[in-house]
Amino acid sequence: MSTYTVGYFVGSLARASINRKLVRALTRLAPPELEMREIPIGELPLYSYDYDADYPPPARALKEAIAAVDAVLFVTPEYNRSIPGALKNAIDWGSRPWGQNSFARKPSAMIGTSPGTIGTAVGQQHLKSILSFCNSPQMNAIEAYIQFTPGLITDDGEVTVESTAEFLRTYMTEFHGFITRVYMALPRGGG
Ligand SMILES: Cc1cc2nc3c(=O)[nH]c(=O)nc-3n(C[C@H](O)[C@H](O)[C@H](O)COP(=O)(O)O)c2cc1C
Repeated sequence: MSTYTVGYFVGSLARASINRKLVRALTRLAPPELEMREIPIGELPLYSYDYDADYPPPARALKEAIAAVDAVLFVTPEYNRSIPGALKNAIDWGSRPWGQNSFARKPSAMIGTSPGTIGTAVGQQHLKSILSFCNSPQMNAIEAYIQFTPGLITDDGEVTVESTAEFLRTYMTEFHGFITRVYMALPRGGG
């Protein structure tokens, strides 16, 4: 099996983020052929095309980080039935300047958790639409809407419910398979 690097975005800036707990769990449960690293978004200023001629350092770092990974994973809460502004801002930075969209042909997947029963499903529909416009091949199945119950995932990413751990393990294995299929059709470095 080929090895791929996966850059993950955490849509929440909160210190006690349950989505950050989720990504710790995903990192623990991912197959060894997926090397996980964070693409941080918290230091980005709000995007404006005034910056297009000269991106500030955090935005340059973002674009370099996306370019350096084989795939991206969005681990995000739902805010007001959409994605958090911080995440949308990061995607806007990554998608520009015009003609230098970092997400084009970059395989992606999304997952999220919230205390509510629909577990970020509506927010993810918005994210799918955004990533479609950004020309990112997306893993359509399996979908992952995780309802967070107290203690489901410990601070260091241990999943306390075995059926959930098994689902998350399967999710990451599926993502590996999806990345493999994308690069079979379009080899890495192929433009
Ligand atoms: C501004 C705001 C909007 C929210 N909107 C939603 C929502 O639309 N759907 C939902 O399930 N939870 C919503 N929540 C609750 C979040 O799911 C909850 O705060 C969760 O802990 C956020 O994930 P995080 O801990 O990773 O930041 C909202 C929370 C905030 C602060």
